[in-house]
Amino acid sequence: MNALAATSRNFRQASRLLGLDSKLEKSLLIPFREIKVECTIPKDDGTLASYVGFRVQHDNARGPMKGGIRYHPEVDNDEVNALAQLMTWKTAVANIPYGGAKGGIGCSPGELSNSELERLTRVFTQKIHDLIGTHTDVPAPDMGTNAQTMAWILDEYSKFHGHSPAIVTGKPIDLGGSLGRDAATGRGVVFATEALLAEHGKSISGSTFIIQGFGNVGAWAAQILHERGGKIIAVGDVTGAIKNKNGIDIPALIKHKNEGSALKDFKGADTMETKELLVHECDVLLPCALGGVLNGANASDVKAKYIIEAANHPTDPEADEILSKKGVIILPDIYANAGGVVVSYFEWVQNIQGFMWDEDKVNMELKKYMNSAFNNIKEMCRSQNCNLRMGAFTLGLSRVARATLLRGWEA
Ligand SMILES: NC(=O)c1ccc[n+]([C@@H]2O[C@H](COP(=O)([O-])OP(=O)(O)OC[C@H]3O[C@@H](n4cnc5c(N)ncnc54)[C@H](O)[C@@H]3O)[C@@H](O)[C@H]2O)c1
Repeated sequence: MNALAATSRNFRQASRLLGLDSKLEKSLLIPFREIKVECTIPKDDGTLASYVGFRVQHDNARGPMKGGIRYHPEVDNDEVNALAQLMTWKTAVANIPYGGAKGGIGCSPGELSNSELERLTRVFTQKIHDLIGTHTDVPAPDMGTNAQTMAWILDEYSKFHGHSPAIVTGKPIDLGGSLGRDAATGRGVVFATEALLAEHGKSISGSTFIIQGFGNVGAWAAQILHERGGKIIAVGDVTGAIKNKNGIDIPALIKHKNEGSALKDFKGADTMETKELLVHECDVLLPCALGGVLNGANASDVKAKYIIEAANHPTDPEADEILSKKGVIILPDIYANAGGVVVSYFEWVQNIQGFMWDEDKVNMELKKYMNSAFNNIKEMCRSQNCNLRMGAFTLGLSRVARATLLRGWEA
């Protein structure tokens, strides 16, 4: 089942639980606008190359649409649609005044030079600048894009509309980015984990963790869990996986990675089979890499008691069912990884205020939003008698549905 089908399935289940009117349900599912553009650029060798870019604006009932831009060869209309819809529910779960959007360009960023990436980003921005805006649709980085990409979008957009720092979030600090944004998704994952464990009378200190993915989200989550006394017993990335039952020295592993060495060559741990990583014994499993990694083939072998979906869509519906039957508690992506978009919201607020917050304030506000969303999800679980995924989906949907009805959607 692809990401769009799985997201729509969760949406329909939540809509049924809430007893939404079928016309309203249909209207909430249909995207506001789907943009497809051809981006042609001169390559460094003088030839021309063309790439397809997408921006799907899903819903704006609660505020400007918000979502990342992904550069990846598998970017297509279906995937961007699913991720745009997920952003609508995610911003509503986090209770920030945004709707949902997503964008992407079908390309292999690793095969393009820096100047080719810059030209591609500028051409994409030229094609969509009239359809995005500080109070319309605010992009951010996603897979294959970063703060530099946002700086190019800011610059190109500002040529048409004047200096507009709030047009993108996840920018470099020197161009109005927020302190704490880089760590925000990983930090939010840790706040979410803390809230879930506390609910079950447990804490980070004294629990064991396995982390798949050691990029932005995984490495920050690992570092903050480690600082709070969590024992990270295995870590994996695209190069391989390592384990140490006494706990991996995470600061040393980060240093090792920053020196350009492969994870599997880290001296303070033993290597392990990558497919063993997700089914190894632990208290908490954090998938922080790709979608669909927990599926029908491995779900019944998972031994973790808790799964925190730090990646987008890591558990496919078949695995979701198997894991639920086994009693594994899953904290869903639309809540668990919302820390990034929450701090993106703080960045946008700071740009509009023309005022910079210190990092402590950013982290403190992030904790408030994550804890409040967790409590709201638990209330939905109680009132709807459902699991955490449906608690999060019904929470997000009910907020968007209320805003839609209040605005008057049938006229
Ligand atoms: N960065 C954010 O703010 C943010 C916010 C919300 C959700 N997410 C989601 O979190 C996930 C990770 O994002 P990121 O920003 O950390 O990306 P990243 O590119 O910084 O890191 C990805 C990590 O996954 C690893 N990986 C890739 N293929 C793998 C494989 N086959 N097996 C094991 N590991 C593999 C890579 O080696 C890398 O360590 C994605 O699903 C993304 O959509 C990210």
